[in-house]
Amino acid sequence: MAKDFSTMEDSNPSANPSIHDPALQGRRHVLRGGLASAVAGLLSPLAVQGGALGALLGAGSAQAAGGGKLGFQSVPLSEADTVTVPEGYIAEVLQAWGEPVGVRGALPDFRHDGSNSAADQAVQMGMHHDGMGYFPLRGSQRGLLVMNHEYADHGLLFPDGGAQWGPEQVAKSQAAHGLSVCEIARQADGRWLPVLPSPYARRLTASSPFRVQGPAAGHAWMQTAADPSGRRVLGTLSNCAASRTPWGTYLSGEENFIGYFRGPNRPNAHQTRWGLRPGEQWGYRWAEHDERFDVSSHPNEPHRFGWVVELDPYDPSSTPIKRTALGRAAHEGATVALTKDGRAVVYSGEDARFEYIYKFVSRDRVKPGGGRANRTLLDHGTLYVARFDADGRGRWLPLVHGQGPLTAAAGFADQGQVLIQARQASDALGGTKMDRPEWIAVDPVGGQVYVTLTNNSQRGAPGRPGVDAANPRANNVGGHILRWREDGDFHAETFRWEHFVLAGDPATERADARGRMKGSRDAAAFACPDGLWVDPRGVLWIQTDMSSADMGPGVAFLKKDPTQGDLGPKEVASLGNNAMLAADPATGEIRRFLVGPVGCEITGIDMTPDGRTMFVNVQHPGETPGDRSDPAKPTAFSSWPNHRSDGRPRSATVVIRKRDGGVIGA
Ligand code: FEO
Ligand code: CA
Ligand code: CA
Repeated sequence: MAKDFSTMEDSNPSANPSIHDPALQGRRHVLRGGLASAVAGLLSPLAVQGGALGALLGAGSAQAAGGGKLGFQSVPLSEADTVTVPEGYIAEVLQAWGEPVGVRGALPDFRHDGSNSAADQAVQMGMHHDGMGYFPLRGSQRGLLVMNHEYADHGLLFPDGGAQWGPEQVAKSQAAHGLSVCEIARQADGRWLPVLPSPYARRLTASSPFRVQGPAAGHAWMQTAADPSGRRVLGTLSNCAASRTPWGTYLSGEENFIGYFRGPNRPNAHQTRWGLRPGEQWGYRWAEHDERFDVSSHPNEPHRFGWVVELDPYDPSSTPIKRTALGRAAHEGATVALTKDGRAVVYSGEDARFEYIYKFVSRDRVKPGGGRANRTLLDHGTLYVARFDADGRGRWLPLVHGQGPLTAAAGFADQGQVLIQARQASDALGGTKMDRPEWIAVDPVGGQVYVTLTNNSQRGAPGRPGVDAANPRANNVGGHILRWREDGDFHAETFRWEHFVLAGDPATERADARGRMKGSRDAAAFACPDGLWVDPRGVLWIQTDMSSADMGPGVAFLKKDPTQGDLGPKEVASLGNNAMLAADPATGEIRRFLVGPVGCEITGIDMTPDGRTMFVNVQHPGETPGDRSDPAKPTAFSSWPNHRSDGRPRSATVVIRKRDGGVIGA
């Protein structure tokens, strides 16, 4: 999501000073040796469901032994309003915003003027596709595509852009959020189509029931007038990154949830720390007709968001669960690794400036039997925050009530308060304040954990934390990718880390005073890494989210604001449209695999178990600075993926295949 709401990514104005030694910044460690053989089989995400990943991993290992993993030619930068993929590949659109998701008896067509009702939207694909997962029903031929819909653009959602505003408009905006479960099938000619209707088809929106589990379930701070139990929440919001668990469920992060709430007139310190500002809402305007989003009246309602949500797509009757043991944060997403003894380790980051990276280690082992057998797995365990030390070591600091500074006297009366106030707990523990941690990926071949740190234009600004070893660039507009290896196994409390790549255009980016940190490693320049995934062959896929809001004025490769100056609306600078790249973790080689249409970001990725079909999401094509499209000119910048001049730009999934039917990227 590229949004120009400063509070959401900048909610830590009183951040505790960085404890790290900038004098040692920038050194690179070479991490060698591997957990690869130990974790490769255990991490096979579909092993529980009997997928074909084992064979694919075998192929990947052989290929890795023979040299590089990347078997395609890098595509050039592009400013075209289309999706570009390498020669020999096909990219086709599947399930754009507004297409019926497949609920029986409710298959309303999309209306290109934005006039579908709230009831229509509640059974159509939501807006702004983000994280995604493919769950096989029949191997690589038929499955469930589960997807996040991160936010709504009212300028496109309504014929008048939301000028007329009432309960129906709020209901439609809420219905455009949440998750989709859509059955899809491969046709004889290789194309993929939705199965309509399907018994698995679901929309979960900002008003669907969710269960709360874990230590904060039922806590006094989780209780509201509508839910005195504190265990039943309506809705999920701002669902960003996603992953599949080894036991066959879907994890989704609730990211910028705070922006849906209207702040109280006099926010207290806790509310301020979480980004609530007096009377402010980010433009969704839900509080005007849905009182629970008015924090003055319902101060606990924001505590019921910011969790990692778990959904079992194979059980259409299941109620999704908010997992409080994983902590409350502006969660980008959550990614699972398994320890050698079968416990789940869940990595998550908080995409906000100067916020943190977390990991949860489950007490219990994963049981066979899918989601149903593991309904309480993520309720019991230990949550940690990461501290990256200047010597290339790192330590996981436990967020456990009563330990260290997390006492009642310090404002943490119990474990529920520790989890609800995870930011304050991490401040107290001295976790490392990062440059907006987005996706986290675990390499099933190399055994390392990767995180995208998308950018932080406030790093080193007056009154803000300065550079540190892990976040080494002031005014970090290009972002970077960092990786670590746990000491021994994924549950370890210590690790070793290094930078994988410092992003940015090498042609325009300045090195620091000591001549280091000059953009990415090769000609496949990119900036603002966001989506991240390692496929079963061990290829690291990197998706970018460059935006004028993030990169700020005066940056050579920033997209120009069409409302300012003499540059045209499609004028983008030296890095072109947002893209997806592939990297070989062993060699550091990076190639550009896909370039998206104008104004989009690329986010969300998965493959079929045979590796021969890839799913990638294109989010917010045609986005304008400020993120609110002009209803009078909805196609001013892009009409992708429509082949009609009046088609509103729409987020959609792109299905990528190789013409020869081969493994993607190989
Ligand atoms: Fe939803 Fe941080 O991107
Ligand atoms: Ca982003
Ligand atoms: Ca993102």
